[in-house]
Amino acid sequence: MSPAVRIVEVGPRDGLQNEKAMVATADKIALIEKLADCGLQTVETTSFVSPRWVPQLADAAEVFSAIRRKPGVAYPVLVPNLQGYERARAVGAEEIAVFTAASEAFNRKNINAGIDESIERFRPVMEQARADGVKVRGYVSTVLGCPYQGEVPVDDVVRVASRLHALGCYEVSLGDTIGVGTPGKARDMLRAVASEVPMPALAVHFHDTYGQALANILACVEAGVRVVDSAVSGTGGCPYAKGASGNVASEDVVYLLEGLGLGTGVDLDRLVETGRWLAALLGRDTGSKVTRARLG
Ligand code: HMG
Ligand code: MG
Repeated sequence: MSPAVRIVEVGPRDGLQNEKAMVATADKIALIEKLADCGLQTVETTSFVSPRWVPQLADAAEVFSAIRRKPGVAYPVLVPNLQGYERARAVGAEEIAVFTAASEAFNRKNINAGIDESIERFRPVMEQARADGVKVRGYVSTVLGCPYQGEVPVDDVVRVASRLHALGCYEVSLGDTIGVGTPGKARDMLRAVASEVPMPALAVHFHDTYGQALANILACVEAGVRVVDSAVSGTGGCPYAKGASGNVASEDVVYLLEGLGLGTGVDLDRLVETGRWLAALLGRDTGSKVTRARLG
């Protein structure tokens, strides 16, 4: 039976892209395999961006080539342009994610391109992906605020999300990159986007900078979204978003959703164990309250 809510685990990508210390390739591989063994259906694996921009994930090809891929699990990878697409395909990636933002200022810092230019870069990627039978997810960042521009009008979010969907993204993830959103604003933003892009094609992606992520997820689930991005142990952040802290912790999202009677298909005990293992590896406390509670 498919779960009521699909969790897109972004820890190996969003989590590790922001780590100061380099994580060994073998540990990245172990993390991805442990996450798939927890019952997660989607594990975003790595990122084929410029290694100069994100040195933490420079070993993307090694990681992707080495993971044991479980049947039924999707392993999407981030791709900013055709060069990234070709690198990803060379090691057998079958699903990719392209990414842009609702804020012009953030996009320039993050991918050195404006919104229109980024979408033009995606066109040949989408065409090639269609020809190759590769699924494409899309991200819109800064949907509830931008570290450079401040307020982001909801209309801009709707416009960019609609463009990604029209371009062929099967799912569009709405990212509160710097975690400034609150539940009412998150719900209104989601509803506005859902008036143009069907709700089943939408996902939410909250960072927890202001401690609002779980409340935002609840508001969005109540409004009908059924795909939630999160990162085990609450790792994460974007190196090009000043002040962005970790993603909402996957353990806490599973606990919330299961408590609401919404199955996720994830084994919480194994996920807690994986989060504990990762926190020890990174040499710091877990960002998950559930893991802290379970460990006493
Ligand atoms: P650029 O410098 O404008 O690129 O960067 P360029 O096309 O001028 O190329 C410059 C050099 O980069 C060339 O090498 C290219 O070959 C190389 P050189 O000739 O100088 O030796 N290059 C590449 N190398 C490997 N793989 C590639 C690639 N592309 C170019 N794919 C670029 C433009 C987009 C490449 C760069 O800005 C970049 O990689 N940015 C990525 C930043 C990033 O990864 N940010 C974090 C992810 S987004 C995020 O976290 C938000 C999200 O979680 C949702 C949310 O929370 O909101 C998704
Ligand atoms: Mg993110």
